[in-house]
Amino acid sequence: MRIQVAGVVSFAVLVAATSAGGRDEFLNRGEETPFLHDDYRSGRVHERLMNKMIAAVARMRVNVGDASNGAPKWEPAVGITPIAKFTPCIDGYAGTEVNNTYACRNLDLYSFTPHGELGSDDKIGNDIWGWTHTSGGVTREFGLVAQMDGTAFVEVLPSGRIGYLGRLPTQSVSSLWRDIKVIGNHAYIGSEAEGHGIQVFDLLKLLDVSLIASPKTFSIHSDLTGLYNGLPVGRSHNVVAHAARNLIVAVGSNPRTDICASGLIFIDVSDPSEPTSAGCAAADGYVHDAQCLVYYGPDAKYNGTDICYGYNEKSLTIYNVTDLADPRIISITPYYGVSYAHQGWVVDEKDQRYLLLNDEDDEVNRSGWAADQKTVTYIWDISNLAHPVLTGHYKSPAVAIDHNLYIHDGLCYESNYNSGLRIVDISSINEDPTGAGFFEAAFFDVHPEDDDINGIAEYGGSWSVYPFFESGYVLVNTMERGLFVLKYTGSV
Ligand SMILES: *[C@@H]1O[C@H](CO)[C@@H](O)[C@H](O)[C@H]1NC(C)=O
Ligand SMILES: *[C@@H]1O[C@H](CO)[C@@H](O)[C@H](O)[C@H]1NC(C)=O
Ligand SMILES: *[C@@H]1O[C@H](CO)[C@@H](O)[C@H](O)[C@H]1NC(C)=O
Ligand SMILES: *[C@@H]1O[C@H](CO)[C@@H](O)[C@H](O)[C@H]1NC(C)=O
Repeated sequence: MRIQVAGVVSFAVLVAATSAGGRDEFLNRGEETPFLHDDYRSGRVHERLMNKMIAAVARMRVNVGDASNGAPKWEPAVGITPIAKFTPCIDGYAGTEVNNTYACRNLDLYSFTPHGELGSDDKIGNDIWGWTHTSGGVTREFGLVAQMDGTAFVEVLPSGRIGYLGRLPTQSVSSLWRDIKVIGNHAYIGSEAEGHGIQVFDLLKLLDVSLIASPKTFSIHSDLTGLYNGLPVGRSHNVVAHAARNLIVAVGSNPRTDICASGLIFIDVSDPSEPTSAGCAAADGYVHDAQCLVYYGPDAKYNGTDICYGYNEKSLTIYNVTDLADPRIISITPYYGVSYAHQGWVVDEKDQRYLLLNDEDDEVNRSGWAADQKTVTYIWDISNLAHPVLTGHYKSPAVAIDHNLYIHDGLCYESNYNSGLRIVDISSINEDPTGAGFFEAAFFDVHPEDDDINGIAEYGGSWSVYPFFESGYVLVNTMERGLFVLKYTGSV
C-alpha cells in the first residue's frame, strides 16, 4: 500500500510544511502501515484502540466469557486477596492460593495489594511512577499508583510490603487514562478525563508517618500545590517530565483541531504553584508519548540541545525544543510494521545512541514482525538525529500487546499487558544493534487467565512498571488486580 498524505489539511500539516521542509519528504519513504495517514490524523486509529480498551474493561467488570473465546474470565473484586508476605518464585510460580498464583522466572513477589485496598472504588489501575526521599541518611521510597478514580500513594517499606498512605481523587470524573511524572518533590498528574487539567501535588505531604495508621483522602482543592488549567478541554493522554528544564510536557491533549494539534504542550513548572503555559509544538500533530532530555550523544551539533523523542502513532518524531517559542522537527520516521507508535525510552541518557520503541497495535494487527502476535520491541540507532535507523527488533517468547517500557542498567522493563512484566537483557546492543543478543532475563505474569492458551493479544494485566528505585523493588500496576512489588533475582 502506498502511503497517502491526502485528506484533511490541518494546521499541523501546514506548520510542518513550512518549518520542517515538508511533510511528504518525511512520509514518502516507502514504509507501509495498515492505515492511511488520514486515519491517523483524524484520530480514527487512536479512537479504535481506546474503544478496544473500554470494551476490555467492560468485560473485566461483568465477569462473562471464557478465555478460549478471547474474553478474560475475571471480575476484579472476585477471588483476589492481598499477599502481604515475601513469596519467592519457586519452580516457575509465585503466589499463595487458587487464583492468586503467578507464573514467573527470576522475579520474586514481595507483596500484592488489590486496588480496592488502595482506596479505589473503580478498582481499575493504569500508570505508575515513583518518588524517593532521603533525609538525615534515611531513604524512603514511595509509589504513585494511578487508578481510574484517582492516585493512590503508598510507601514501599524496606520489607517490600507497602503502607497505604492515602489518595488524591480525580480532579473531575473517572477515566481509564491517568498519567503521572515527578520533578523534584512534586507529582504532576494528567488524565483523559475532561476538565481534569494537570494536578500538582507536593509529595512531602507523604512524609507524615501517621498516614500509615490513618490514610488520608487529600483534597483536590486545598491539598493541591497548583493546577494547570490551560489544556484545551483539560484532557491529556500522557505527561512527560523534562526535569533539567523544570518543564512538564502534556501530550495527546485532545481535541486535535486545537491550535496545538495534540502535540507537545509545554508547561513551565519552575514555580510548581504557578504552572505556566510555555508554548507548544504542533508541527507533527498528535504525540502519544515522548521522552524529553538534554542531548548528550554522538550527533555533535545537537550536544546540549533539548530534544524530545516523540512516539507519534505513525512515526518516531524527534524535536529540537531548545527554544520553546520556536520548536523544530529534526526528523519524522515511519518504520517497517508501523501500526501505532506508542512509547519508548533511550537506552542510555548520557549517550543517546540507541532507543527502544513499542508499537501498541502491531500485535493486534499482525503487522510486520508481529504477525504471530508475540510482542515486538523495535531497536533504533539514533546516533544521527536527522536519520534514525531501525536496526532490528526483539521478539518476546509470549503473545501479548506491549505498553510502556523503561530502561535501567542494561535491562529493559517491559509492561506487556496480559503477559505481565518482561525484563529483557539488552546489554549486547552496542556490539550488535540487531537485537540478536537480547534475551529474556526474567518475567512475572500478572494475568494467569490466559496462560492455558499461551497468551492473548488483548488489553488487561500490566499497564506500567516503575523500575528506578535504588532498593531494587520494582512496582507493577495492573488494570484489574492491583499493585505488585517485585524484585529481580537474576544477575545484571
Ligand atoms: C477462582 O476464579 C474463578 C473464576 O473467576 C471462580 O469461579 C472461583 O471461585 C475462584 N476461586 C477462588 C478460591 O477464589
Ligand atoms: C558534549 O559537550 C560536553 C561538555 O558539555 C563534552 O564533554 C562532550 O565531549 C560533548 N560531546 C560531543 C559529542 O561533542
Ligand atoms: C535547535 O533549535 C534552536 C532554536 O530553535 C536553534 O537556534 C538551533 O540552531 C537548533 N539546533 C540545531 C543543531 O539545529
Ligand atoms: C489491520 O488494520 C487495518 C486497517 O484498519 C484493518 O483493515 C485490518 O483488518 C487490521 N487487521 C487486523 C488483523 O486487525
